[in-house]
Amino acid sequence: MTDAAYPATRLRRTRAHAWSRAMHRETVLTSADLIWPLFVTSGSGVEEPVASLPGVSRWSVDGIARRAKEAVELGIPCIALFPHTPADKRSQGGDEAFNPDNLMCRAIKAVRDACGTDIGILTDVALDPYTSHGQDGLVDAQGYVLNDETVSVLVDQAVNQANAGADIIAPSDMMDGRVKAIRMALEMDGHPNVQIMAYAAKYASAFYGPFRDAVGSGGLLKGDKKSYQMDPANGDEALREIALDIAEGADSVMVKPGLAYLDVIWRAKERFGVPVFAYQVSGEYALIEAGAAAGVGDREGLLMEKLIAFKRAGCSGILTYHAPVAARLLNG
Ligand code: PBG
Repeated sequence: MTDAAYPATRLRRTRAHAWSRAMHRETVLTSADLIWPLFVTSGSGVEEPVASLPGVSRWSVDGIARRAKEAVELGIPCIALFPHTPADKRSQGGDEAFNPDNLMCRAIKAVRDACGTDIGILTDVALDPYTSHGQDGLVDAQGYVLNDETVSVLVDQAVNQANAGADIIAPSDMMDGRVKAIRMALEMDGHPNVQIMAYAAKYASAFYGPFRDAVGSGGLLKGDKKSYQMDPANGDEALREIALDIAEGADSVMVKPGLAYLDVIWRAKERFGVPVFAYQVSGEYALIEAGAAAGVGDREGLLMEKLIAFKRAGCSGILTYHAPVAARLLNG
């Protein structure tokens, strides 16, 4: 397409009035585009604010059920659950991950009791909330995260979550071959309709710090996750990761973090045409809040501009800690 020359073409014409801007808007964001990550803690009636994530708290299971109801009222279709496992339940092998009565399973059941099938429940598969070393998998004597041994444990974790009632299993561990192994296990264990949203392109990012505080693994982690999470310099490799996860049976794929990887989202959508989700991670949320508090700009403006960017880049939806705030703004 070639535009006619000025003055036949004046792109400002369609921007002159609010009605016209509304009419020419290319992408829309609605509360149905949002997935709300929530942190689960022990006890009952407990709310623990997460210091590095202002405005975000861990909730005990009863509070999680209330947040899920709030999500339904706001038109948010799905929540993502992450447990803060007490130190005495963490271990080298992360066995608490497949305890059918762990925090995650209890939260899943409480949400189901409170909301029935009015809400989707997405659950994270990786061992870091359960290990005493904070890595996402099983480690050898040198601290290397073992691939195949980890995959077989992740399968147990995924089936445990599906048995409790999870709707979407989201492996965030970046082990090779785990999507296929989890898909096969779900099929064999009577969960053919449980979806897999693969954290397909997950980078070894500096933006995960507040999340690790929220699940209590930050202080435990020695070293980094670079032997399994991706190098931020790589885009082609992300497309290979995404292609593999689709071939292994992922229903949708995720790119994580979000804003620094819009090119990967765009390329994935163009290349594969599958549902692509972005995870606007904890550090991204915290930066917006810190920026707003420091007077960089209007909080609502800052957060909504970033969310619409994900839609423009091709996302089907966004995991964001701003989900309830954004939904309230969108619903007026
Ligand atoms: C763990 C996991 C992480 C996040 C989601 N799942 C952290 C990590 O890989 O260390 C990060 C989310 C966020 O920062 O908001 N497998």
